[in-house]
Amino acid sequence: MAEPSAKVKEVLKHYPLRVKLEGCAVTLRPMVPADGPALLDFARKLPQHDILFLRRDITKQEGIDKWVKDLEHGIMYSILAEDADGICGYSIIHLTDLEWSKHMADLRVSTAERSRGIGLGRLLTREAFNMAMALGIEKVMARMTPDQQGARALFQELGFQPEALLKDAMKDRAGNYHDLLVMAVNVQTFLAQRSAYGVGG
Ligand SMILES: CC(C)(COP(=O)(O)OP(=O)(O)OC[C@H]1O[C@@H](n2cnc3c(N)ncnc32)[C@H](O)[C@@H]1OP(=O)(O)O)[C@@H](O)C(=O)NCCC(=O)NCCS
Repeated sequence: MAEPSAKVKEVLKHYPLRVKLEGCAVTLRPMVPADGPALLDFARKLPQHDILFLRRDITKQEGIDKWVKDLEHGIMYSILAEDADGICGYSIIHLTDLEWSKHMADLRVSTAERSRGIGLGRLLTREAFNMAMALGIEKVMARMTPDQQGARALFQELGFQPEALLKDAMKDRAGNYHDLLVMAVNVQTFLAQRSAYGVGG
C-alpha cells in the first residue's frame, strides 16, 4: 500500500464513523483490499443503469481487481458504508496521473437501493470531500447519465454545476446509447456551501 500523507492520516483517524440515518445504523470506514469480494457482491446487486457512470465494470472480477490496485497505489481513496446486511454504499476520490491535472479528481458515489433516501449518499459525498481536501484537490468532477435524478439533485445541492454533456458517450450491454453528464465543483465552493447548510467537520 502507498504510504498516506500526514493530512490523509489525520482524516483516516476519524473512522470508523458510526451514524444512525433515519433509524438505520451505518458504519463508515476506509476500503481495504480485502473488501474486494464484498464489493463485487454489492456491485452485482445494483441496477445495471447505476454503474454506467463508472470508469470500470465492477460487476466483474477484473474491474474489482483494478480498483484494489488503484487503492494500493494511492490513486484511489474509498470510504465504504456498511449496515447489518453488508456494504450499502461507497464514495471514491480517484486521482489522475496526468501531470497537468493533478489538482482535479473524480468523485463517484453509489448507495444500495435498500439504503437510498436516508441521507447516506450526501454523507458519503461529504466524507469524500474531506479526503479530497487532505489530498490537496482543488476541483472535483462527477459523471453520470442525465436521467440520474437522485445524483443530479444531490450534486446540485452540494454546489456542483453541469460542465459538459457528451452525447452517446456510453453504450450499455443491450446496445443502447446514453449521454454522459459531467458536473464539477471547486472544493472551496463546496466548503462554503457546507457551512451554509450548517454542517461542520
Ligand atoms: C446518487 C445516489 C448516491 C444518492 O444516494 P442517496 O443515498 O439516495 O442520497 P441521499 O439520501 O443522501 O439524498 C440526498 C439528497 O439528494 C436528493 N435526492 C436523492 N435521491 C433523489 C431522487 N431520486 N430524486 C430527487 N432527489 C433526490 C435529495 O435532495 C436528497 O435530500 P433529501 O432527501 O434531504 O431531500 C444514489 O441515488 C445512487 O447510488 N445512484 C446511482 C449511482 C449514481 O448515479 N451516482 C452518481 C454518479 S457519481
